[in-house]
Amino acid sequence: MAELGHEVLGVDVDDSKIAALSAGTVPFYEPGLPEVLQRNLESGRLSFSTNYARAAEFAHVHFLGVGTPQRHGSYAADMTYVRAVIEELVPMLKGDHVIFGKSTVPVGTAAKLQELADSLAPEGTSVEIAWNPEFLREGYAVKDTITPDRIVLGVRGGESAAEEIAREVYAQPLEQDTPFLVTDLQTAELVKVAANAFLATKISFINAVSEICEITGGDVVALADAIGHDDRIGRKFLGAGLGFGGGCLPKDIRAFMARAGELGADQALTFLREVDAINMRRRDRTVDLAKRAFNGSLLGHRVTVLGCAFKPNSDDVRDSPALSVAGSLSLGGAAVTVYDPQGMDNARKVFPTLNYADSAHAALEDAELVILATEWQEFRELDPEATGKLVASRRIIDGRNVLDVSAWQSAGWIIEALGRSVNNLA
Ligand code: UDX
Repeated sequence: MAELGHEVLGVDVDDSKIAALSAGTVPFYEPGLPEVLQRNLESGRLSFSTNYARAAEFAHVHFLGVGTPQRHGSYAADMTYVRAVIEELVPMLKGDHVIFGKSTVPVGTAAKLQELADSLAPEGTSVEIAWNPEFLREGYAVKDTITPDRIVLGVRGGESAAEEIAREVYAQPLEQDTPFLVTDLQTAELVKVAANAFLATKISFINAVSEICEITGGDVVALADAIGHDDRIGRKFLGAGLGFGGGCLPKDIRAFMARAGELGADQALTFLREVDAINMRRRDRTVDLAKRAFNGSLLGHRVTVLGCAFKPNSDDVRDSPALSVAGSLSLGGAAVTVYDPQGMDNARKVFPTLNYADSAHAALEDAELVILATEWQEFRELDPEATGKLVASRRIIDGRNVLDVSAWQSAGWIIEALGRSVNNLA
């Protein structure tokens, strides 16, 4: 928002994050974001605080972007943090305010928050809740924010100031002809979960086809290329492999199913259960391939897992397929060494018992089996010959279908890739 030219105050309840941001440090890895932060701190357009009272005085336009993680013991989204923002902020407001929700929420939330805000707003204060879902991808957050591929805004029926304010806030992308879709609140909420459910379904579709390719000796990558040429299908998000993870897709499809159940429409989304199951089976399949490489027992075998972030260009390990595989192998008795260019600190907190190497080179030394689990550029570019000199045994599983199979085979490697050339290890 500051980069788009606005005066911005960022508020969070976490002192350490606010201190880091105020000092110009982004407390997670996101390419390009440190430069944006620095530039806007220096210009004086951006500052940070833990103080809601300051936020209440500072602005009449507020963006709510707190997390909605999966609730413990349930598929539903945990709405505690979203409600807490309204409960803290609204009683302090004076005058006319609009709060734009960005968090991914169950359909019906905005209307409920409007009731809550109405009940908490001081006499003479008006607070409108609008919904403006966020579609940014980790790793491309800056680009997706400055030049989004669409802006969706849900507004309440009747009197609303939100659209006019949103047009001002997003003047810059709107000048560049970014599609701007104004809907009712529930449609805007649903757009976000539907988009993520579709993406998850697309990935699981190709991974289901992978299972058939593995049995028949087909090649899922060639197949994805072939069907991807049909522009009704498209090649994007047909990357077969270890499947999806992260802080959004897995919990969003589960929350969508949970909400459908509450609405008495479970049947509409039961297919998402299958999407989830297909996705999880890819992790099991990878662990099975590793076991097969050691004739059924992982005990004591040295396995190197390249990558622990849920995807490249991120340090996020939430529900990471790579870390899940590394953890399962370790629990199965293997001596697992992990290297990731950015995800190690976060992984250590979740899985302290794995060995963490300082570099890909160190991780590969003496490995009996290598698993490429997150497709960082550094791993895509590994030279099969040089890598072969480091390991104890030239055996690799390409969990992301990014290696040149024939080049690795020519260098004497036994290479297994999910959905391709399984006969190799048989
Ligand atoms: C996703 C949505 O893309 C974004 O619009 C939304 O705002 C938040 O959720 P993100 O979680 O950053 O973004 O990751 P994304 O790039 O969508 O990847 C999700 C997962 O799918 C990753 O684990 C990735 O490795 C996996 N993936 C992606 C595949 O397995 N195959 C593919 O072809 C594409």
